[in-house]
Amino acid sequence: MAVCLVAGAALGPVFDFLYHAVINAAQKVAAFRPILNKLKVTMFTIKPIFNDIVKLNKVLQRPQEETDKFIDMLRQGEKLVQKCIKVKYWKFWKKHEYKKKLDNLQEELQWFFQIFVQADTCREIKRVRVGVDELIDLVKGDCMNISPVGFTGFCNLSTSNEFVVGFEVPLQEVKEMLVKDDQVVAISAPGGCGKTTLAKRVCNDDKIKGIYKDNIFFVPVNKTTTWREIVQKIVKSKGVNVPQFQSDDEARIVLENFLKVTCPGPTLVVLDDVQSESESLIEKFVLPIPEYKILLTSRFIFPRFSSTYKLKLLNDEDAMTLFLHSAFKDRTIYVQDNILQKMVRSCGGFPLALTVVGRSLCGRPELEWVERIQKFWESIFTTNISLLHILQSSIDALDGQLKECYLDLALFPKGQKISATTLRDIWVELYNLSEDGAGPVTLLFELYTRNLANLTLAREGAADLFDNCNDHFITQHDLLRELAIHLSSKEPVNQRKRLIMDINGNEIPNYWIDLNQQTFSSQILSISTDKMFSSVWPDIQLPAVEVLLLNFDAETYSVPEFIEGMRNLKVIVITNNGSCAAKLNMPQLDHLEGLKTITLDYISFFSFDWSMPNLRNLKKISMVACKIGEAFENCTHLPSMWPNLMEINIDHCQDLVRLPSELCQLVHLKKMCITYCQELLELPEDIGNLTELQALRIHSCTRLQELPGSVGDLKSLTTLDISDCALIDNITERIGELCSLRVFNMRGCTGLIDIPLEVKELANLELVICDQEMEYFWKTFTSHVRHLRIDVPKEDVNLRWLHKF
Ligand SMILES: *[C@@H]1O[C@H](CO)[C@@H](O)[C@H](O)[C@H]1NC(C)=O
Ligand SMILES: *[C@@H]1O[C@H](CO)[C@@H](O)[C@H](O)[C@H]1NC(C)=O
Ligand SMILES: *[C@@H]1O[C@H](CO)[C@@H](O)[C@H](O)[C@H]1NC(C)=O
Ligand SMILES: *[C@@H]1O[C@H](CO)[C@@H](O)[C@H](O)[C@H]1NC(C)=O
Ligand SMILES: *[C@@H]1O[C@H](CO)[C@@H](O)[C@H](O)[C@H]1NC(C)=O
Ligand SMILES: *[C@@H]1O[C@H](CO)[C@@H](O)[C@H](O)[C@H]1NC(C)=O
Ligand SMILES: *[C@@H]1O[C@H](CO)[C@@H](O)[C@H](O)[C@H]1NC(C)=O
Ligand SMILES: *[C@@H]1O[C@H](CO)[C@@H](O)[C@H](O)[C@H]1NC(C)=O
Repeated sequence: MAVCLVAGAALGPVFDFLYHAVINAAQKVAAFRPILNKLKVTMFTIKPIFNDIVKLNKVLQRPQEETDKFIDMLRQGEKLVQKCIKVKYWKFWKKHEYKKKLDNLQEELQWFFQIFVQADTCREIKRVRVGVDELIDLVKGDCMNISPVGFTGFCNLSTSNEFVVGFEVPLQEVKEMLVKDDQVVAISAPGGCGKTTLAKRVCNDDKIKGIYKDNIFFVPVNKTTTWREIVQKIVKSKGVNVPQFQSDDEARIVLENFLKVTCPGPTLVVLDDVQSESESLIEKFVLPIPEYKILLTSRFIFPRFSSTYKLKLLNDEDAMTLFLHSAFKDRTIYVQDNILQKMVRSCGGFPLALTVVGRSLCGRPELEWVERIQKFWESIFTTNISLLHILQSSIDALDGQLKECYLDLALFPKGQKISATTLRDIWVELYNLSEDGAGPVTLLFELYTRNLANLTLAREGAADLFDNCNDHFITQHDLLRELAIHLSSKEPVNQRKRLIMDINGNEIPNYWIDLNQQTFSSQILSISTDKMFSSVWPDIQLPAVEVLLLNFDAETYSVPEFIEGMRNLKVIVITNNGSCAAKLNMPQLDHLEGLKTITLDYISFFSFDWSMPNLRNLKKISMVACKIGEAFENCTHLPSMWPNLMEINIDHCQDLVRLPSELCQLVHLKKMCITYCQELLELPEDIGNLTELQALRIHSCTRLQELPGSVGDLKSLTTLDISDCALIDNITERIGELCSLRVFNMRGCTGLIDIPLEVKELANLELVICDQEMEYFWKTFTSHVRHLRIDVPKEDVNLRWLHKF
């Protein structure tokens, strides 16, 4: 353990050595610049998370040899980068060789990073929950109309009696990927998409059979399958008898010999339904044998293997074809077209759902169809256990916290883009995570690698997923959302942790009225209503609610009165999906002492009485697409209303012309974020009063022309972002007084032609992000500002690899 500790402690500096070497080399050697820049962005992106991990000594939880390997890789990497600087420009072959090595380094780094960081938190929790995990009985396979295939040495996987549609293109594309250089090809998609079916189709394809002949091995894999078992079965399937292997090494030698000698020529091993835990198993199959390929199917994404085919859901036409086949066989269609359409749309293009739902309705009277549509998900999840099981197996494999996080995604209405920062605010409060730590990022990436959510990064260079205010989004497939709702609804309604109410029309669910007098123990409440809603909420006791989400579509919305009884409320998210900014009637919030975060989306403040909510502990307020108007004008009591406000975000507020100077009374503000306010002309001169401000982000405010001189008074400011403020043409010379400034992002400030000389006073400046045109200016300051790095993000160097997570 002691050695391990040392190893862990050594990681940080070794990482930094490589980091600096890369930056240095990228400046010096043009030949390797593109790949070095890519490496740089990778490292820049992982650095903050990495630092956290080192700080928290999380790394110590890793086996020592893994840590050692990582350190060794970083050291070798540094040596490699140093060598690159010395390569003479005429040595083309050397350059080629080094480029390849750098490419490998970058890939390895990503991979290790994922192993170390992404997997780490989750594994820790897993260790605790191992008992629970063992109980989980995974339902294997994706398509239950194929009887579970035992081990087959040859590819006699019958798929002939199975009706499939929409597989021609995927089949072709996977075949093409198999022909390419990569040894491992992965098919990745959520459960129920038909990955196994596709893999079997590949095995049965005439062209593939022509290439691989009898050397196609289809191996269903589960959590408990060991590498030795698989090798044994592969070898046995050809009639070769082998004893139990004593070690993995022995198995490897046998397999290698088997592939070279017993089954020479092209070989295809298909590993079906590989779980994230089995990544090492794939590794072991990778052997240096020509014409030997591995095809795997998984619900997960393995960034290590770059050839990943993401199987898409069926398009409308194919979905209809499959559904008609399941529901009517060859008989006539006896239900109305609009009912049919609705039913198919509800299945969301999932082949499995289409088949199951179709079959269950086969021959049923039209009336039953109509009833089923109305309670579509309820009936699907309760009447057809197989569908539920297959989908749920993805969820059961999640450990405790990650599962909760997955369930939380369903709090947002169907099809809504979920802001990464809003999600973070919720998780920080619910799961007691550190706001600036790696926790929320890790959780998000985990959900992404499991195909349970999509991640959309708004722009490249986003060093920290959450630093750019509201720029990044998460989306979730409807079916997975419905499943989350189903899973959240197992307990009696007044005992559910999450209460999710999607109200169509004007009907408040009966249980609210029936349980009127009872107390609910829900911790999270999400209520979505549409245009038709106009009811008055009954009085309900919800004292345990900590997080409240209200979604509506209305011009005027009355926040339910029962909010007053939510004495534990910490987070409110109010989202209007109407066609104009909504007026809000707020009940008394004054006594909600624990309220920390408010997010308001598309709300008009004209009618909002600002004297009302005195929120002593409010830490953060976000206003997205709001009409702020003169709401803050003459508001002299802001400091007493929100004495502890630390963060304010104003995003996409199109009527914000002048930032109200009243906000500058909030002297405890630590972060101010104003993004995409296209009408904003000026910042108040009093902004210098915010002496505790650490981050000032003014991004994409395209009419803003200057920063007030008093910015120089922001002695605590560590981050200044004025990126994409294209009209700013003169940075105040008082910028030189920002003695704490570490990061300055001025990318896309195309109006600037000069930087005041005073920036040379910025002794703590570490990173400048700017365009190529400005790079030259900053370089002249590098002799004054000692640790300065200049980052010039290029369009092609984006974080595409992050999307892979
Ligand atoms: C896992 O697969 C093996 C065969 O490879 C099988 O014997 C075992 O029962 C399976 N376990 C589970 C949990 O499905
Ligand atoms: C659920 O689906 C399976 C497979 O399509 C089918 O065999 C079974 O009868 C269905 N069960 C119900 C209750 O609809
Ligand atoms: C918002 O409204 C649009 C059209 O008005 C609708 O298509 C969409 O589904 C609504 N979104 C949510 C989340 O309610
Ligand atoms: C939350 O975390 C902090 C530090 O991480 C800890 O001191 C505190 O006790 C935790 N609170 C709860 C309620 O778990
Ligand atoms: C992610 O996006 C892709 C393409 O838009 C879509 O096919 C897929 O179903 C989405 N996955 C989830 C989990 O939402
Ligand atoms: C703020 O005060 C000024 C001067 O007293 C007055 O002219 C203006 O109308 C007030 N604005 C609002 C929104 O009350
Ligand atoms: C800013 O500070 C100055 C000097 O202390 C004070 O006169 C001014 O009123 C403050 N401005 C705001 C908006 O609080
Ligand atoms: C920039 O603004 C300062 C005052 O804030 C002014 O003195 C200076 O002349 C301006 N520089 C340019 C190039 O406009």
